[in-house]
Amino acid sequence: MLKRTHNCGQLRIEDAGKKVILAGWVHSYRDHGNLVFIDLRDREGLTQLVFNPDTQPKAHALARTARCEWVIAIEGLVQPRSEGMENPKLPTGRIEVAVQQLDILNISKTPPFEIDSAEKTNEEIRLVSRYIDLRRPQMRKKLQTRHRVTMAVREYYDKMGFWEIETPMLAKSTPEGARDFLVPSRLNPNCFYALPQSPQLFKQILMVSSVDKYFQIVRCFRDEDPRADRQAEFTQIDVEMSFVDSDDVIEVHSNLVAHIWKQILDIDIPLPIRRMSYKEAMADYGSDRPDLRFDMKLKDISGLAKQSSFKVFTSVVESGGIVKGLCAPGGEKYSRSDIEKTLTAFAADYGAKGLAWSKVKTENDKLSLLGGSAKFFSSEAQQQIIELFGAKDGDLLLFVADTEAAVNKALGPLRCKLARDLKLYDPKKFEFVWVVDFPLFEWNEDEKRYDSLHHPFTSPIEEDLHKLETDPANICSQAYDIVVNGSEIGGGSVRIHNPKIQQKVFDLLNISRRQSQQQFGFFLKALDYGAPPHGGIAFGLDRLVMLLTGTENIRDVIAFPKTQRGQCLLTDAPGEVDQKQLDELNLRTQRHSHKTGQQNNE
Ligand code: AMO
Repeated sequence: MLKRTHNCGQLRIEDAGKKVILAGWVHSYRDHGNLVFIDLRDREGLTQLVFNPDTQPKAHALARTARCEWVIAIEGLVQPRSEGMENPKLPTGRIEVAVQQLDILNISKTPPFEIDSAEKTNEEIRLVSRYIDLRRPQMRKKLQTRHRVTMAVREYYDKMGFWEIETPMLAKSTPEGARDFLVPSRLNPNCFYALPQSPQLFKQILMVSSVDKYFQIVRCFRDEDPRADRQAEFTQIDVEMSFVDSDDVIEVHSNLVAHIWKQILDIDIPLPIRRMSYKEAMADYGSDRPDLRFDMKLKDISGLAKQSSFKVFTSVVESGGIVKGLCAPGGEKYSRSDIEKTLTAFAADYGAKGLAWSKVKTENDKLSLLGGSAKFFSSEAQQQIIELFGAKDGDLLLFVADTEAAVNKALGPLRCKLARDLKLYDPKKFEFVWVVDFPLFEWNEDEKRYDSLHHPFTSPIEEDLHKLETDPANICSQAYDIVVNGSEIGGGSVRIHNPKIQQKVFDLLNISRRQSQQQFGFFLKALDYGAPPHGGIAFGLDRLVMLLTGTENIRDVIAFPKTQRGQCLLTDAPGEVDQKQLDELNLRTQRHSHKTGQQNNE
């Protein structure tokens, strides 16, 4: 077999005159009667091959039989392309290889889609034949970037004295927020392992074990509905450190992010990364993951709304709700029907019961509100609104009235949609922020109890410890999230290391003593044996790579992802299993019970 000397993407004009051996896939094939041209593709790129019947009749004759995606190896001479035939778009566009020997290593069926037009091919078709899809340069680049990120991460932590330690995949089911994936145990009938939602408790126990600095690039499993930036099976960069406070974790991980952006994109991130309180993020951006590439802050106009003649506004404010709005620069381009159909429907998807609006126009040399809800405001109130938003001629004001939570839930995403539609930011820009000072709990109205805003192992700030008994709703936690361009790429906290405080938090979360012993007993016990103060963080590796490669689809950065229905279309998982396997596991499926039922009836 011909032994490869070079990659297809590697050859340059300086290589002219060299004898090379290349191997790869036939990307495209052109038969010009006399000469045959093949673009040969491998992981690194393309090289044009030329087969000349006069000098190499055997190779030429064989080349005429080759088809797209056949696997070949060639030996030939690098030569400059003739004048006018150069391709400035290709790194190898100034050369070609005159082939002397051709080996056909394997043939291929006609692929289900053309590599060059795969972008237009339905994603499901691409996922079924993922091996073809991954041959595309765009996809290979993403795989390569992912590899480079994991290498940069490992290098960074190793230099800082962290140890990479693996934690079990077959773990105990502990309620951590999402639904667990369960695995039946053959050796322990009727018992189940859970695949880890994260290694949270193991990494804390590693701190009790004196490991001090731990990290792991680790697969996590959460049985939730997948979304554009969420998979049931995803990867975290998981970290825990002892004897640290939140500033330490934030500093180490601001530097990590700067290291990754420098290594992968050669971009210098200005340090320190800014911090914003949860309260400020919610008030100004309606979200705890604010996109700071553009301004467009939300403003509370409840005071003015209460005095308006708009019934919806006055009644909401009187019943304890708020009215908030935003000013979309240049938003006058939305017609009345755009606003009332498209924008209102968008806000409704996020729970808004309505969307009030008004345009800002200059009339008699003065800015005033025009159309929509303008008529409900006195001219004085209109001036105050214009001033509050700093509105200009041609802007569009949009308002939602409801409870504070409902208003933010609708206006936060609407703000991002408007900025995208109106092209208010440079999509290549990155804006980082640490969101801090989260409340420890949020009230769950449906179940009439508190939920952890992060997870139950997050520590309150010391000054608020006494509120565990008196005022849980107003406890500030030591949690922090890192957000880039509106995407939460990581989150963590300083943990509770005192077993008594941990137990108090479980009590507030309505986790009974029996339940907490059953589910977390092993962990509470570990805290009893000299747990050091500790804290940590986990980054979503998939989301990091999405940002670094500029894709909005998480499946693009995972070699073998699952669909929205949690299926792997390549292998057809999940699938049914043999009865024998079920019997060994002491399991009975519904299908099986129906059948048995039928048999019994017969
Ligand atoms: P959290 O649940 O916030 O924290 O997860 C950390 C980060 O992981 C990413 N992420 C996901 N990415 C893709 N698909 C998903 N389904 C998914 N879920 C989460 C996000 C998120 O910021 N144990 C804690 C961390 C800690 O406290 O140290 C944890 O798992 O980018």
